[in-house]
Amino acid sequence: MAHSTELGDFSGVVALDGPSGTGKSTVARRLADRLNASYLDSGAMYRAATVAVLEAGADLADPDAIAVVVRDIDVWVSTDPQAPATALDGRSVDAEIRSAATTGAVSAVSAVPAVREKLVAQQRALIAEGPIVAEGRDIGSVVWPQAELKVYLTATEEVRARRRAGEVSGGNIAEVAADIRRRDGLDSSRAVSPLRRADGAVVVDTSELSIEQVVSLLERLARAAADTIQTVPSG
Ligand code: DC
Repeated sequence: MAHSTELGDFSGVVALDGPSGTGKSTVARRLADRLNASYLDSGAMYRAATVAVLEAGADLADPDAIAVVVRDIDVWVSTDPQAPATALDGRSVDAEIRSAATTGAVSAVSAVPAVREKLVAQQRALIAEGPIVAEGRDIGSVVWPQAELKVYLTATEEVRARRRAGEVSGGNIAEVAADIRRRDGLDSSRAVSPLRRADGAVVVDTSELSIEQVVSLLERLARAAADTIQTVPSG
């Protein structure tokens, strides 16, 4: 059961963006739990699309070929923060979306405009059901700029590499750091919806903070943001 609080339930949208290794996914899930809200992992959707592209054997250098594959697929993600799950055409792809092959190809797939159009439309429909904590790269800048709270999580490159290496068994920090640098470079430099801090986003550097400290900080900010919206006089 999610936490209940004397402050009442949060009814808005938290947009949580930032590069990989900032603790974003863990923070987003725990925050959603605390706020009694749903959770959207938009990265899992791009990863599921990437699984389809790899299975179809499409050329990663050919945006049109990628677009054709993704046009016909059905991507589903759970919005329960306690039970994350991803399916492609009705079949679970929880393991496939975290494979090295998928991680290596996802930047190419997520840079294709037709892929983003399709998945952003789906993300908006899920967010509209609110209350929700949605995480990704462009939630606050493109998908849902009207979010009650927009957060941009950062951490030093070394800390991010250490965290990511810890997630992968036998992960080598230097290799992970190189991979993060490559993926962040691609995600930040692409033409459509590049990774960047959204206007009005609060920047939180998580390098020196525990997950619990980040979650508590964001919970306070989310409740304060929602209260501000609710107490604005209507006339
Ligand atoms: O958060 P993640 O590592 O699971 O994201 C996987 C990739 O998907 C990442 O390299 C960038 C891309 N992505 C994106 O372009 N837009 C989003 N809203 C979320 C992820």
